[in-house]
Amino acid sequence: MNTLMRRAQHLHHWRTYCIKQCAAVAGNEATAAAKGKTSYEELIDSRHQQAERSIVVQVSSEKSYNELYNYCSRFGRIVTAHHYTVPHEDELHYMLLEYANANEATAAIDSSAYNAELSGHSSVSAGGSGSGVPVRSPFLWFRAAAAAGKRNQSKLSANHKPLPLTTVAGTRPLAQDHLHTLLRSAESIEQQLQLLYEHTRLNDLGVRMRFLAALQVQQAIAGMFPEARAQPFGSSVNGFGKMGCDLDLILRFDGATTAQSERQLMSRLVYHTKENLSNGRSQTQRQMECIGDLLHLFLPGVCHVRRILQARVPIIKYHHEHLDLEVDLSMSNLTGFYMSELLYMFGELDPRVRPLTFSIRRWAQSCGLTNPSPGRWISNFSLSCLVMYFLQQLRQPILPSISAMVKTAASTDIRITEDGINCTFARDMERVSFASRNTSSLSELLLQFFEFYSQFDFHNRAISLNEARALSKPDHSAMYIVNPLEQLLNVSKNVSLEECERLRIEVRNAAWILESEVENSTLTEQERNEQSWGLLNLFKHPEKAVIRPNMFFKPRMVEVSDLFEKSQLNGSTTTPPINYKNATMRQQVQSIKAATRNELKQLRESSTATSSSSSSSSSSTTVTATAMPTAKSKRNR
Ligand code: GTP
Ligand code: MG
Repeated sequence: MNTLMRRAQHLHHWRTYCIKQCAAVAGNEATAAAKGKTSYEELIDSRHQQAERSIVVQVSSEKSYNELYNYCSRFGRIVTAHHYTVPHEDELHYMLLEYANANEATAAIDSSAYNAELSGHSSVSAGGSGSGVPVRSPFLWFRAAAAAGKRNQSKLSANHKPLPLTTVAGTRPLAQDHLHTLLRSAESIEQQLQLLYEHTRLNDLGVRMRFLAALQVQQAIAGMFPEARAQPFGSSVNGFGKMGCDLDLILRFDGATTAQSERQLMSRLVYHTKENLSNGRSQTQRQMECIGDLLHLFLPGVCHVRRILQARVPIIKYHHEHLDLEVDLSMSNLTGFYMSELLYMFGELDPRVRPLTFSIRRWAQSCGLTNPSPGRWISNFSLSCLVMYFLQQLRQPILPSISAMVKTAASTDIRITEDGINCTFARDMERVSFASRNTSSLSELLLQFFEFYSQFDFHNRAISLNEARALSKPDHSAMYIVNPLEQLLNVSKNVSLEECERLRIEVRNAAWILESEVENSTLTEQERNEQSWGLLNLFKHPEKAVIRPNMFFKPRMVEVSDLFEKSQLNGSTTTPPINYKNATMRQQVQSIKAATRNELKQLRESSTATSSSSSSSSSSTTVTATAMPTAKSKRNR
C-alpha cells in the first residue's frame, strides 16, 4: 500500500514537474516569439509620422515622374516614391513622395501656389486643378512648367538620377482571373491559402494613403483644435484589411501627445473653453454635423459626404477622390479603436491567424454571407470574432482568452474610454507570453473551422472571446457573440435567424467541399493548372450560389453537379469520374448519389405532371426557395 502511495506521489510530482517544464518552455518560446514585434501604438505612431513626411501629387502620367522628382528634390531628400492611378473618365495619375523628414514635406507643401481660377467646381473633374477656397493640405498637383522654368528643369534632369519608383499602379488589386490562375498554379491548398493572403491583403501604399487621409482631416482643424488626432482603425491597420478596404477613422479631441499632457500639468494658464450645452450624444451629433460641413465645403478630394448621425455610433461617410477611398469618420467610438488593437494583437500572436481569416472572409463573401452594406447578415467583424473564438477553443489553443490578456495587464495598459468603458488588457506581446503548441496546418484549421461551426449550437449558446468558451445565450438573438469590450452587448445582434441558418448551411457545404478537395489532392500538375481545385471550389461565384431542394435537411450539402459525372446529367463525358480512396467516403457518396437520383426522378415526374411548360428544367435541379434569398436578391443587396 505504502509503495503504491509513494508511486502515486512520485507520479504526481513527475507530472507537476513536466507541466512546469512545459509551461517554462512555452513561456520561453512565447517571449522569444514576441521579441521585436511592433506594438499597435508603435505602428500607429510610425505610420502617422510617415504621413507627416509625405505629399501626394497629381501628375499627367507616370512619365512625369523624373521631372517631378527633380523639382521636389529641391525641398529635401526623397526616400520613397509610389505611383497609383484612380479610375475616372480617363485614368488619373498620382505620386506619393516620402521625404526623409517632416520639415522637408512641410517645405514642399508651403512652397505650393494656389490656383488663380476660383471657379469652385470639383477639383478632379477640372483636370487636376485645385479650384475653390485656398486651403492647405498634402494633396497637390504638378502643373506644366513655364517656358523659362522648363529650360532650368532640363538642366536639373541631367544632374539628378531619380530614385526608382517603389510601385507603379500600386493600388490596383489583382484581377479575379489572375488570382484564379495564381491559385490554380499552387502546389497545395496550404500554398493557395498563403498566396490568397499575400496577394489580396492591403499593401504598404494602401496603408500610407489611409494615414494621409487621416492627416488631412487632422491638419484641417489643427488651428482650432491643436490636440485633435485623426486615427485610422479597423481593417486598415489591424492587418485583416484587403486591397480597397474602407478607412475607419476616429477623430479624437483628447489625443494629446505626452509633451502636451506634461504641459497640461505644469501650466498655470488655462484655455477658456465653451461649456457643453446639451447631452453628450446630441452634442457629438451637432459637432459631427459641423465637421461634416467643413470637410464637404473645404477639403480637397472629399466628396459625397453623408451624415449617419442616428446610428449607435454616429458617423460621417465620404469618398476621397484623390485616394479613391471610402471613409467612415466617427468621433465617439474609442472601443472600436481598442477592439482593432485586440484584433491586431491576435494577428501578431500567430502567423496562421491572418491567412486563415482572409480565406474565411473571402469564402463568406463569395457565397453571399457577407455584404459591404450593413444589414441582417453577418458583418466581417463578427465573422472575424467567430474565427478568433474557434482558434481560442481548440484543444491546443492558438490564441489566448481576452481575460488572460486582461490579467497580465500592467498599469501602463489601463485605458478607460470617455464614457467609462474599460479597455484595459496587456499590450506588450512579451507580457501576454502565449505560445501555441498547436501544429495544425492552415488547411487543417480551415476544415476544422467549418466543421466546428456546422456543429455549433447557435440556438442556445453565446460565444465569449473573453472567456474563450461558450456561455448560455442571454436572449433570443439568432447569433450571440459577447462584445469583448462591452460585455453586455451582442456584436452579432443584427444577424437574423434566416442568415444564421444560411451560415450553418454554408459551413456544412464548405466542410464537405474541402474534405473532398483534400481527398482529391492527387491531381497532376497539368490537371491543377487546367481545372478549379482546392480553394477555388470553395469560392464559388455568387451567381452559382443557388438554393436547391432538400438541402436544408441533409447533414452535408454539395452541388448536385459535383456528385454526378456530367454524363449522368446531360450526356457529356468531358469530366473524368472522381475516385474516392477512402472506402467510407466512397460508400457515403454512392448512397447520396442514389438518394439524389431518386429525388431528381420524383422532382422531374412531379414537374412534368404539374406543368408542361417546365420541361426545360428537366436537366436542372435549381428551384427558388421562398424562405431564403435567391442568388439574384443576394447580389442586389
Ligand atoms: P472591413 O471594413 O469589412 O474590412 O472590416 P473592419 O474590421 O474594418 O470592420 P468595420 O469597418 O465594420 O469595423 C471597424 C472596426 O470597429 C473593427 O475592426 C472593430 O475593431 C470595431 N468594431 C466593429 N464593430 C464593433 C462592435 O460591435 N464592437 C466593438 N467593440 N468594436 C467593433
Ligand atoms: Mg472597416
